[in-house]
Amino acid sequence: TGYTTYDPGFGNTASCASAITFMDGEKGILRYRGIPIEDLAENATFIETAYLLINGHLPSPEELNRTRVLLNDFSMVHESMQIFFQNFPQGSHPMGILSGMIMALRSFYPDMGTEEDMNTHFLYLLSKVRTMAAMSYRLSRGEKVVYPRHDLSYCANFLNMMFDSPVHPYIVEEDLVRALNVFLILHADHEQNCSTSAVRVVGSSKAPLYASIAAGVSALWGPLHGGANQAVIEMLEKIHKEGATIDEVIRRAKDRKDPFRLMGFGHRVYKTYDPRAKIIKKMCDRILGKLKKEDPLLDIAKKLEEVALTDPYFVDHNLYPNVDFYSGIVLRAMRIPTNMFPVMFAIGRLPGWIAQWKESMEDPSQRISRPRQIYTGLPETRYHDIMDRK
Ligand code: CMC
Repeated sequence: TGYTTYDPGFGNTASCASAITFMDGEKGILRYRGIPIEDLAENATFIETAYLLINGHLPSPEELNRTRVLLNDFSMVHESMQIFFQNFPQGSHPMGILSGMIMALRSFYPDMGTEEDMNTHFLYLLSKVRTMAAMSYRLSRGEKVVYPRHDLSYCANFLNMMFDSPVHPYIVEEDLVRALNVFLILHADHEQNCSTSAVRVVGSSKAPLYASIAAGVSALWGPLHGGANQAVIEMLEKIHKEGATIDEVIRRAKDRKDPFRLMGFGHRVYKTYDPRAKIIKKMCDRILGKLKKEDPLLDIAKKLEEVALTDPYFVDHNLYPNVDFYSGIVLRAMRIPTNMFPVMFAIGRLPGWIAQWKESMEDPSQRISRPRQIYTGLPETRYHDIMDRK
């Protein structure tokens, strides 16, 4: 058409200007609002990180305290929503449930459009999505919902809602709480990835915040994106149970005729080791050591990595482990079931989606998203009467 640039998957197109997250894919650098991911993973909590992403600065003690109080106040979800959960068919994937339930939240908590009101909705989402994720797990097992508690931190509360039981009260393990904080921090934002772009695209039509976030969950579900953590563990379990050798798996991943890919490897932006994967790999050893647990899948993952990183195909294609390669091992150590892994990613990515949505709403240069295409269909043809069609 003379002016349209063909860029499948938008690999070369910047669709917005953003001050939230910096990535250098060649050097393996990731910073939120200028702070290196390593620094945040070492020192911050997930809630501080969420505040940083959404508001642009780390919270003062008063701001953090107020955020904590509000997150506690907003942690329950409307009782009527339980009926929704209970009527999903057995075996429904938790990501489908989560996306549907976030849409439903909009009807229970409609927004009024003021700035103060929007900040409340950001906190509603952060607090209630976590509660709903735990509720969906409980109800899927036919168990009673565990309500949030004001005396527990954001992450401890989540683990308690997942695992507390009248016959086996949940005892908060600080190592696991810290591991969950780090897991969520590492997932909190990643500039214009597929789900964040979905949030911005839906938001650009001025659709409601909840609809935009539900679109983010839907985009995250796929195994090339947030579903990769589930796919990695399923791949490692297959190797473990079915006895496939590492070499066979690597051979299949290299075979261009086989659609199989080495899950948890490769990235659109990182052409070196994903800095998040470095942190999470170290955490696997630390957390299993502290819990005095062993996981055969960790050994398989390490062997796979070792072989892949010296294989010419992986070297030539710049394929390194990404965040999803080791994250499932940490989630397994917390007893999170495999089909909940993408939901854990979604809880983590929420502050990023919210921050990016807010930024796009405040940016006067943002217009409705409307890419062009290269038309490859028929030239002008005539309508044929039904009796004249072959
Ligand atoms: N295993 C084998 N080959 C691969 C892999 C892999 N995991 N990833 C990329 N390649 C090859 C691909 O076949 C292609 O080869 P060639 O140029 O010879 O045709 C080349 O590398 C480039 O691949 P691409 O699909 O054009 O790259 P992309 O930037 O479009 O895709 C990706 C990035 C992450 C979707 C892809 O690397 C992949 O499918 N990885 C496995 C899924 C995964 O781990 N996803 C999580 C991503 S990180 C967390 C997140 O942000 O969600």
